[in-house]
Amino acid sequence: MAEELKQIVGTKEEIYQSLLPQIKGLITGEGDLIANLANVSAALKQGLGFFWVGFYIVKGEELVLGPFQGPIACTRIRSGKGVCGTSWAEKRTIVVPDVDAFPGHIACSSDSKSEIVVPLIKDSSVVAVLDVDSDSLNSFDSIDDKYLNELCSWLSEYF
Ligand code: SME
Repeated sequence: MAEELKQIVGTKEEIYQSLLPQIKGLITGEGDLIANLANVSAALKQGLGFFWVGFYIVKGEELVLGPFQGPIACTRIRSGKGVCGTSWAEKRTIVVPDVDAFPGHIACSSDSKSEIVVPLIKDSSVVAVLDVDSDSLNSFDSIDDKYLNELCSWLSEYF
């Protein structure tokens, strides 16, 4: 039976520092990708209170919605489209302080105000992206960038 996440209080950095080892513990020894991405989404939502958090997985010419937590979302995104498709095409993390100011942003929910997208890269190719949305402006900074990248570089090995 899965253990519960430890309740974490503190700064955002302290929360990441406590949460990431717990997430690694949660999925170590489990080889099923979908099960692991599902639990990672739930742990990030529970630990950090994100509005929407989940994965889009590269399938052919498109990103296809994978495990997530939050309101329903768009199912398919083409390369170069929206924040997710741009992160895929450019193989880089994108922090969007105000989604209305990002040309081509795809609005899955009108409540989403800021966003960070981190690519999962394996053997030099993007295999998926992690997308996190907030219902407030300016929610993501270098701390999210650092810890979500650490998580994604570790997760990419599961692909
Ligand atoms: N806003 C994203 C689409 C995915 S949803 O936010 C869940 C984008 O512009 O790629």
